[in-house]
Amino acid sequence: VSRWGELAGRGGGGRYAARFAELAASGVDVHGEATCCASLVPAGSRVLDAGCGTGRVAVELARRGYRCVGVDLDASMLAEARRAAPDLTWLCADLAGDLSAAGIAGSFDLVVAAGNVLPLVAAGTEATVVRRLAAVLRPAGLLVAGFGLEPASLPLAAAPFDLAAYDGWCTAAGLVLARRFATWDGAPYHGGGYAVSVHRGGAAQVG
Ligand SMILES: C[S@@+](CC[C@H](N)C(=O)[O-])C[C@H]1O[C@@H](n2cnc3c(N)ncnc32)[C@H](O)[C@@H]1O
Repeated sequence: VSRWGELAGRGGGGRYAARFAELAASGVDVHGEATCCASLVPAGSRVLDAGCGTGRVAVELARRGYRCVGVDLDASMLAEARRAAPDLTWLCADLAGDLSAAGIAGSFDLVVAAGNVLPLVAAGTEATVVRRLAAVLRPAGLLVAGFGLEPASLPLAAAPFDLAAYDGWCTAAGLVLARRFATWDGAPYHGGGYAVSVHRGGAAQVG
């Protein structure tokens, strides 16, 4: 069970979707992650929304002309994604598992893990998840992950890992740090409690 699964229980998808719908209705820009991805790769690129949840990021990127696939482990979150965009591909799979066996074929220009996905995978599987995500990138493709580094930016009592650990998992997976922001709208990172990291794949990925 992922940390998310322990936290959300079953049936959390409706509540999660409703929370973002309320935010959007109140005028908050809920598409910062999609805008960030769109600034990194051109429309038409293949994007994997890893831990897509209700499909927030993939649905918006698809609307902007990206070719998106969403993958998540939580059926109630995926049900919301399917309802929002029935024509997109939504796969139920564990990011720590064999993604090609789960139907995630080919190579992606960009993999995005938004909304604290990495801190919410099952404890101890983070390095494997990073390796699995790196393995579905095309050469020089981008892994973009945003997550909290302190409780104020996480739905957890403590941050399960720091940036040094994350960068280490990326390095082990053949990825190189390309950019690091403090926010999804590209503010420079100066050591705060939230980071958006952009890693680039090398010519040869570690499977
Ligand atoms: C806070 S939600 C973020 C959802 C979405 N990315 C967003 O930004 O709205 C975290 C998601 O990570 C997913 N997740 C956690 N561990 C996972 C795993 N091992 N495999 C697939 N999805 C996972 C959860 O099911 C949940 O939907």
